[in-house]
Amino acid sequence: MSRFTDWLAERAAAREEAGLTRRLFASDTAGPMIDLAGNDYLGLSRHPRVVAGAVAAAERYGAGAGASRLVTGTLTVHERLERDLAAFTGFPTALVLSTGYHANLAAVSALADAETLIVSDAHVHASMIDACRLSRGQVAVAPHNDVAAVERFLAARTQPRAIVLVETIYSVLGDAAPVEELAAVCARHDAVLVADEAHALGVCGSGGRGLLHEAGLSGQDHVVATLTLSKSLGAQGGAVLATAAVRDHLVNTARPFIYDTGLAPAAAGAASVALRVVREEPERVERVRAVARALAKGGGVPEADGAVLAVAMPGPREAVAAVAAAAEQGVRIGCFRPPSTPDGISRLRLTAHAHLGDEELEHAVRVLEGLVG
Ligand SMILES: Cc1ncc(COP(=O)(O)O)c(C=O)c1O
Repeated sequence: MSRFTDWLAERAAAREEAGLTRRLFASDTAGPMIDLAGNDYLGLSRHPRVVAGAVAAAERYGAGAGASRLVTGTLTVHERLERDLAAFTGFPTALVLSTGYHANLAAVSALADAETLIVSDAHVHASMIDACRLSRGQVAVAPHNDVAAVERFLAARTQPRAIVLVETIYSVLGDAAPVEELAAVCARHDAVLVADEAHALGVCGSGGRGLLHEAGLSGQDHVVATLTLSKSLGAQGGAVLATAAVRDHLVNTARPFIYDTGLAPAAAGAASVALRVVREEPERVERVRAVARALAKGGGVPEADGAVLAVAMPGPREAVAAVAAAAEQGVRIGCFRPPSTPDGISRLRLTAHAHLGDEELEHAVRVLEGLVG
């Protein structure tokens, strides 16, 4: 045994002891289940038109983009998707990247230098936290959704520039950020709001255009959005939505964009078609919200702002036991345990899906009532 293997064994034993060991499984081998765990909120990952969009793009442009975007990896399928995303969300421009994770790394690391204060909400996604580490700005963490605390940090700053990081719908608790107030505070203090719309796109706002669009904030100079193509759009990839000046800055300086192969054509083709389906079938957006309301009742929690619901559990073991009990009854639910929770509380995580049939939904609600009641 080397020190390295000793260390691995110690870490594994500590995880096991705390009930925090994670294991991968191939979900397609588990048999048919009602899915309340995934993020394919509108059921588009298997939509025949979306899958055909992926196939057509792969056939036309190849299995991979073949190079980074600044070399030969920019294809018309990317340009079309960028136009579509910008038009849908109301932003002047979009820049697509290979994941939503990259979108956050790129936006934050390119917009914050050593002379930038980064004020981050305490509950932002790991990709934003890692983005802060990658940038050279000083980071101040504001308590969750505490606009006054954000304002205090901005008012007291010594740096000439500042950015504020939030999610419009938080991925763990499922609650919404007060985006209008945050944008107003940013405007007052000459700061930029960088808001991750990963869980809002396709779910919130008119026709699923997101919470920034709903608040009339998309396209404003001091507002930048990031999003993923892997949730409501059922594909893969990410994007930054912003003014042309911000987009140009990212294209020229964002290392997670510059040094990464362009988004795979199949993912871009699928996302473009998915966006069209969302536009043409707004009833999917209505349905996902109705399903979220029904699940909230079943789980005994308040109605959610989006499609994500969180049910607090006494500890990680109870959360894992509830997941297993639901699985035995044919319902797949997720759970968040430390270190994936911002406050150390273990939670069941339920996600609403537009494509759940009425009978499936009734069964899922009964199972939830049994778990929490
Ligand atoms: C809020 C949020 N931002 C970013 C991401 C990363 O997106 P992607 O999976 O496309 O890398 C996720 C989850 O995956 C997320 O929940």
